[in-house]
Amino acid sequence: MKKILVIHGPNLNLLGKREPGIYGEFTLEEINSRICQLAQSEKVEVEIFQSNSEGDLVNKIQETPDIFNALVINPAAYTHTSVAIRDAILAVGIPTVEVHLSNVHKREDFRRQSLISDVVRGQVAGFGVDSYLLGMRAAINIIKNDGEG
Ligand code: DQA
Repeated sequence: MKKILVIHGPNLNLLGKREPGIYGEFTLEEINSRICQLAQSEKVEVEIFQSNSEGDLVNKIQETPDIFNALVINPAAYTHTSVAIRDAILAVGIPTVEVHLSNVHKREDFRRQSLISDVVRGQVAGFGVDSYLLGMRAAINIIKNDGEG
């Protein structure tokens, strides 16, 4: 069975209590359970990983070759700062979908720049939990259509 890795970056473990006006009322557990339901109905395997540490996120991305067919990632604040995460995505060459709960393009200026958006297949932003589900659907279509990356 094809396998998708979903990565959540820093502070996303606080969803539900963290700025609910911006990020919504869903907890990370609730989001993860929606992701798992979708994976089950689309008959793909999913593994979900969250870390607040940049190095752990890089290590996890480095594990993807030969295990995962696609990556769905919300690098959270590291989106705007991490050359290391960008380089890891480029190094492994796995088809990657970038997701954000909020519409990063209509917030502070510094959130408009993503260091990964030009090395991923596409970005979904601004739809709350649906950003993850749309990102998952994009990853599933990529796997079905050209799984090669
Ligand atoms: C975020 C947007 C980032 O700018 C922010 O630092 C986050 C979450 C989002 O999902 O909307 O932590 O990636």
